[in-house]
Amino acid sequence: MKILITGGAGFIGSAVVHAAVSKGNFVINLDALKYSGYLKNIEKFEKMPNYSFERADICDLSEMRRIIFKYEPDAIMHLAAESHVDRSIDGPEPFIKTNVNGTFNLLEVAKEYWISKGRPSEFRFHHVSTDEVYGSLGSTGKFTELNPYAPNSPYSASKAAGDHLVRAWFATYDLPVLITNCSNNYGNNQFPEKLIPTIIINAISGNSIPIYGSGANVRDWLFVSDHVEALLCVLNTGKPGRTYNIGGDSEYTNLEIALKSCEILDRLLPSEQTYSKQIVFVEDRPGHDIRYAVDSTRIQTELGWKPKVSLDEGLQFTIKWYLENKDWWRPLQKNYSVKNRLGVNK
Ligand code: NAD
Ligand code: DAU
Repeated sequence: MKILITGGAGFIGSAVVHAAVSKGNFVINLDALKYSGYLKNIEKFEKMPNYSFERADICDLSEMRRIIFKYEPDAIMHLAAESHVDRSIDGPEPFIKTNVNGTFNLLEVAKEYWISKGRPSEFRFHHVSTDEVYGSLGSTGKFTELNPYAPNSPYSASKAAGDHLVRAWFATYDLPVLITNCSNNYGNNQFPEKLIPTIIINAISGNSIPIYGSGANVRDWLFVSDHVEALLCVLNTGKPGRTYNIGGDSEYTNLEIALKSCEILDRLLPSEQTYSKQIVFVEDRPGHDIRYAVDSTRIQTELGWKPKVSLDEGLQFTIKWYLENKDWWRPLQKNYSVKNRLGVNK
């Protein structure tokens, strides 16, 4: 397949590019290299004959037209996004531009291109979305694909808007679309602003480890390679117009994640006192969703995907990776300031 992947220089996108290229597909990686898009994530693909990189912004309609008509892809996997909830609280505008208007641009050009090709039924437009569109759960239950949308942050509202546009392009124009809504990913190459890299980097740098509120918020954690396999499985075998939830069946409070990470660090890089002493409870994130849990029954029973990596295994791998790849994350620290992080500077 010839697959155009947007956001392929980011955390999940670069892992998708890696898997898709390794499986023999031709991949066009379209990325604007915003703050979380990182050349180090993609330099290994540069010499591959089945890979091409286009630096472009999905908000630029004429560039989208040029690139899509130039490469004539069989499928578009759309991952490019502003992805961090905290940043969306500080400044929502780029989230609306990229996640809503950018997604609209891609849909318009994809539709134009698909019509020009005679509306091939095998074409796919796959929107990679989030479980956060469903809002927050109480202490029981899980999100299924039938849950009503109730996004609470500017980030999740912008992703929900993207999902609605994609769904409408199927209902109105028959564009063969797929939507996936996934839980919290972790693993190698994740931008240091997210929870798990923050814990690791702050711990080994001797800084405090900021936990929002009481640390009781629950997330469902999925190792990035499991998400990637799920995405390729949906792309290849999912039914057009259908949504698939993806989760790890792996619920932990943020405090549990911090304590587990510190325990692993105590073993891998012993220091005078346990790293858990660096955990500090800071002011909570506004509108902080209390609990996410994803019911992946549909993708598991209809398409046969299931997660393979346990949290203990994935966390150990991830922590080792950050310890062994300081050259990867140190240059990125200039792109955000620990002092100015949400909840830390109060
Ligand atoms: P990331 O921030 O690491 O990467 C985003 C990529 O998109 C970067 O390479 C960036 O340069 C690119 N980008 C941003 N704006 C762009 C624009 N206007 N034009 C072109 N490229 C642009 O994000 P991630 O964590 O890898 O997330 C990837 C996708 O998966 C996002 O759509 C996100 O909503 C979704 N998702 C993420 C998670 C998670 O836990 N990280 C979970 C579920 C869904
Ligand atoms: O659920 C899927 C979503 O997961 C994705 O759609 C997003 O792109 C991705 O960023 C992630 O969103 P979260 O807001 O859940 O991720 P984050 O790593 O920022 O935070 C995870 C939890 O940890 C959340 O409850 C907030 C808390 N947290 C986060 C940071 C950065 C802290 O307590 N301290 C921190 O320093």
